[in-house]
Amino acid sequence: MKIIFATHNHNKVKELNQLVPKPISLLSLDDINCTKEIEETGSTLEENAKIKADYVLKKYGLNCFSDDSGLEVDALQGAPGVFSARYAGPEKNNDANIEKIWEELGGILNPKACFRSVFHLNLNGKSYSFEGRVDGKLIYEKRGSGGFGYDPIFIPEGFEKTFAELGDEVKNKISHRAKATMLLLEHLTVLL
Ligand code: IMP
Repeated sequence: MKIIFATHNHNKVKELNQLVPKPISLLSLDDINCTKEIEETGSTLEENAKIKADYVLKKYGLNCFSDDSGLEVDALQGAPGVFSARYAGPEKNNDANIEKIWEELGGILNPKACFRSVFHLNLNGKSYSFEGRVDGKLIYEKRGSGGFGYDPIFIPEGFEKTFAELGDEVKNKISHRAKATMLLLEHLTVLL
C-alpha cells in the first residue's frame, strides 16, 4: 500500500519509511511529481497539517498524511506556534527566533512551554488527527549542540538538560514528534 507523506523533506520520508510495516511504502510529494510548496495558511498546527493532506487528496485522490509542529509558550499565549520556523522573519533564522522569544518573555521566571506535533491522515475516505506533545520550560541561555530549532533553550519536564544536550537518542523517545509518529504508526498497523 502506497501512502503519500505530504512533504518535500526527503529525510522525514526516509526516516518514517524505516518505521512503517513492510506492506506500506511512503512517497514524498516529489515522488508524485508535485513540486508545489503548499502554503501553510492555517492558524493552528491542526489546520496546517489538514491543508497539506487535503491538497494531495483533492488534487491526486491518494491516501496521504501530513505533519506540522511547533513550540507553544504559555506566557506568549501559545506563540510562536504555527509561526515557529519564521517567528523573527521569513529567513527562518533559528538564532533570531530564539532572541525574539527571549525579548517577548521579558525575563519572567521559568517560562512554561511545550512542543506539539500534529499529523493529519486521509485514508480510504476517512480522516484522522494524531497529536504528540512534550511539556517543559525555557531557559535564557543556549545549552547543547544537538537537535535543531529551539532545542538549546527547551528543557523537557523530568529532565535537567535541554533537548540539544540530551541528544537524538533520548529526544527521539520522548519528543512530540516521536509520540505523534507512534500514534500514526499504530493506526496504520491496525489497518493491515
Ligand atoms: P516542522 O513543522 O516540523 O517543520 O517544524 C516547524 C518549526 O517548529 C521548526 O522550524 C522549528 O522552529 C520548530 N520545531 C519543531 N519541532 C522542533 C523540535 O523538535 N525542536 C526544536 N524546534 C522544533
